[in-house]
Amino acid sequence: TTVSPYVNEPFTDFSLEVNQKALQAAIAKVKDELGREYPLRIGAEKVMTEAKITSINPGNLDEVIGYVSKADQALAEKAMNVALETFETWKKVPPQERAEYLFKAAALMRARKHEFSALMILESGKNYVEADVDTAEAIDFIEFYAREMIRLSEINETQPLVKIPGENNRISYIPLGVGVVIPPWNFPLAICVGMTTAAVVSGNTVLLKPASTTPVIAHKFVALMEEVGLPAGVINFIPGSGAEVGDYLTTHPKTRFISFTGSKEVGLRINRLAADTVPGQIWIKRVVAEMGGKDGIIVDETADLDAAAAAIAASAFGFQGQKCSAGSRAVIVESVYDQVVDKVVALTNKLQSGLPELNFAAGPVIDKASYDRILDYIEIGKTEGTLLAGGGKAEGNGYYIQPTVFGDVGGKARLMQEEIFGPVLAIAKAKDWKEAIALYNDTEFGLTGSYFSTNEERIAEALDTVHCGNLYINRKCTGALVGVHPFGGFNMSGTDSKAGGYDYLLLFTQAKLTSRKV
Ligand code: NAD
Ligand code: ALA
Repeated sequence: TTVSPYVNEPFTDFSLEVNQKALQAAIAKVKDELGREYPLRIGAEKVMTEAKITSINPGNLDEVIGYVSKADQALAEKAMNVALETFETWKKVPPQERAEYLFKAAALMRARKHEFSALMILESGKNYVEADVDTAEAIDFIEFYAREMIRLSEINETQPLVKIPGENNRISYIPLGVGVVIPPWNFPLAICVGMTTAAVVSGNTVLLKPASTTPVIAHKFVALMEEVGLPAGVINFIPGSGAEVGDYLTTHPKTRFISFTGSKEVGLRINRLAADTVPGQIWIKRVVAEMGGKDGIIVDETADLDAAAAAIAASAFGFQGQKCSAGSRAVIVESVYDQVVDKVVALTNKLQSGLPELNFAAGPVIDKASYDRILDYIEIGKTEGTLLAGGGKAEGNGYYIQPTVFGDVGGKARLMQEEIFGPVLAIAKAKDWKEAIALYNDTEFGLTGSYFSTNEERIAEALDTVHCGNLYINRKCTGALVGVHPFGGFNMSGTDSKAGGYDYLLLFTQAKLTSRKV
């Protein structure tokens, strides 16, 4: 069978009332299903545990999304054994057939798109656009990785090895084994789906430990994979404490790889623990760790200042700044500093806080720990810069914080150096464009960045010297598209795996060369 060329899933146009209504109907449907109990999935078994993770709506703390069973070490061990056993059969399923499961899953998710988005609106606090983009990205990952596996399986035909007389040589990308997949909560569908399907379509079996604040949407994805007939035991679903289940599996001798996306602290811990070999382990564990960011936008005096200000506000405050790609810093050249800052502040003050299901521009942050941490950073900001907008809690029965802007922040300030992961923007002034680039580069992270200018020479230099994995010119620094903007960062932002790119599946496979004398 031939497969159509990959195209990105279109976003829903919510300026059309019909689309708003369709999403609202999905929200009503999901609301009818709230408060259910969800099992672990270990092979064909659905295990309900006594201990449960209670998932709540961060925008309405009285609303329980669901009660999700919680794995302990014994259940994690059981899941490991099922995954090991299933690997022996799954690795023999031809790539094209593995891809077929993904194509079916993408079609079904597309058909139920608003339902997935609705659940994220309630469980993670996304507004309509943010949730819709997350679902679209999930569909994109599935479609893209399915095609990528097919491409890799045909590599001997499309990109043959160098020929020598008397031998037939072939290369094949075979799976690694059992992987532990640990996604974050901030793209609770897209990243969970992307990390899981990439591993699985490559022929591995996985233990999926979803983020503890968004386990219900992860369960909905796992149930979808069951519905399309993915063999039991390929994806094992084991929510649980990162410290307990995570450390246990990271140090397990049979774990072949760990695919992690989350904070720098946890990523470094996993990398360190996984580096040790334990008795019974016969490989070097592979660690893919995509971590945090302190991303930013640089604006010089030749830039379109309205476009720059709009990009700064969108990058800083989309999903309350809870994106690894969030533009939490802006560096603006002195001569246009006041103009750009005024525009950014005006745009920020327009962002109204309120319930995600009513589609307010600014929603809640994810949980109490985040809420407290962000409010602490706002207090720190008051000592490091000038408060220009926001500055504290916002109204509502949830974790609402005002979109907050600080100006005149120094390059070494904590607000310029540390990932806050909330709606807090720090703006610094630079004497010229070169100093602006230097200020941008003065970070241990290196995920996304943008340079706003109309000067071709400067743009050329920026392309060369702004040091980050995803560098954009004259646009916002969030919103990477699968296949279009392969995603991953430098330095403490992680292993630069380039999710949604042509290199990604190589991380979940190993290349086997076979040479036959003829
Ligand atoms: P986190 O590090 O707190 O948690 C991520 C996952 O790790 C969760 O599933 C958590 O339960 C698990 N975990 C916690 N302790 C563990 C342990 N000891 N062993 C194994 N797993 C453990 O991050 P988060 O709060 O979920 O997500 C936000 C962070 O993720 C931010 O730093 C953000 O920048 C980053 N992020 C990065 C990317 C990227 O592509 N670079 C994408 C999205 C998010
Ligand atoms: N892919 C997401 C973005 O670029 C993280 O915003």
